[in-house]
Amino acid sequence: MKKMKYALIGCGKVAAKHLKAALYQCRKLNTIEIAALVDTREGAAEDLMDSVGVPKRLRTGIRVYKDYAQMLEEVKPDLTAITTPSGSHAVIGLKAIAAGSHILLEKPLTLSLAEADQLLAAANEKSLQIAVGHIYRFFPVVQQLQADLAAGKFGQILYGDVKVRWGHDQSYYDQAAWRGTWTNDGGALMNQSIHALDLMIWLLGKPALTVNGRVDRQIHRMQAEDLGFATLQLADGIWCQLEGTTNTDPERQEASFFVRCTEGELRAGIMAGRPRIEVIDADGRDVSGRYMRRFISQKLREGGLGALKQLTNPHSGLYSDWIQAAAAGRSPIADGASGRQAVEMVLAIYKSSLLGRQVELPLTDFKLEQMAGYFPEQL
Ligand SMILES: NC(=O)c1ccc[n+]([C@@H]2O[C@H](COP(=O)([O-])OP(=O)(O)OC[C@H]3O[C@@H](n4cnc5c(N)ncnc54)[C@H](O)[C@@H]3O)[C@@H](O)[C@H]2O)c1
Repeated sequence: MKKMKYALIGCGKVAAKHLKAALYQCRKLNTIEIAALVDTREGAAEDLMDSVGVPKRLRTGIRVYKDYAQMLEEVKPDLTAITTPSGSHAVIGLKAIAAGSHILLEKPLTLSLAEADQLLAAANEKSLQIAVGHIYRFFPVVQQLQADLAAGKFGQILYGDVKVRWGHDQSYYDQAAWRGTWTNDGGALMNQSIHALDLMIWLLGKPALTVNGRVDRQIHRMQAEDLGFATLQLADGIWCQLEGTTNTDPERQEASFFVRCTEGELRAGIMAGRPRIEVIDADGRDVSGRYMRRFISQKLREGGLGALKQLTNPHSGLYSDWIQAAAAGRSPIADGASGRQAVEMVLAIYKSSLLGRQVELPLTDFKLEQMAGYFPEQL
């Protein structure tokens, strides 16, 4: 595979996970060359390289920019990861595509469907791939479970229940002006829960048809919601229930999934950093060990112990897939279309709460900004 030129736009918190994944690709797999880092903040790129431990010999080849448009023009990267505040994803993504780059946009893909459609159309026109930062799709055994659910190994899928209790205290929202705003972020649903909703809909395997949702802002000083509930009716009579909040204990962040099928069920999740999984087959046996063994031997075959170590950074799986997809001209596993679908469902929950009634999908268009004024201006 030809070595591709990689750039990262946005050197804030999540960027460390990206740069670590990029370093693994660069040093161990030799698939990419890290060509440029961009951030409007003075010193952000250097701090990021320090925190990740980029070796000196690589640093000399990495160009640092403040202006992403200049970087795109001068460096012409094949691959561009964008980890800037959510409200800027569409504008920067479109520029990168126009410059001929495959892109990896952090979640949420965009904050409006019109922007998502522009990105998808632009990438399609240039035969470029869009990957989205939906890392839950790269957690251990998830892809095998998704394939088995889709193949009917657990019988008919009946419903799913997903809970995201991702506690954050006020200081989380106070650390940057864009957090918790209707124009640049959204709240517990658009920022935290979208990962889990994306995964649950992928596991359930059918698109949502109707959405009933309610959002509230209970304890945080911000514009958007810190609590949301939704019931989604999917095609083929499947149901999905969602609870998403940042009002819980920050030390016990939890994302939990339950899927009930006619011939088995699945319980999986993460609680305070500890993963758990139970896969019950038609005879009532827990077969999760079988899934884990298969997963570990596949990883060992692919990349030895080094590949297993990468499991502590799920962005690493996202990067491997994005880079291979770009090279092969196929859609990534977390592709732009699925990123759009996740945004559409979250926007439908907001719209349902705003209108006080059920909302049907597909949504024609709805912008997160339309929620402005939904809650009184400040708590
Ligand atoms: N997939 C995940 O697990 C995950 C986790 C956290 C955040 N995110 C997403 O990643 C994005 C960034 O989140 P974060 O927590 O890293 O935020 P952050 O505020 O820590 O970092 C954003 C960085 O982008 C820079 N920036 C802003 N505008 C820019 C521009 N025009 N050009 C270059 N740099 C610019 C800022 O200076 C800042 O350093 C958000 O969309 C968020 O939803 C995803």
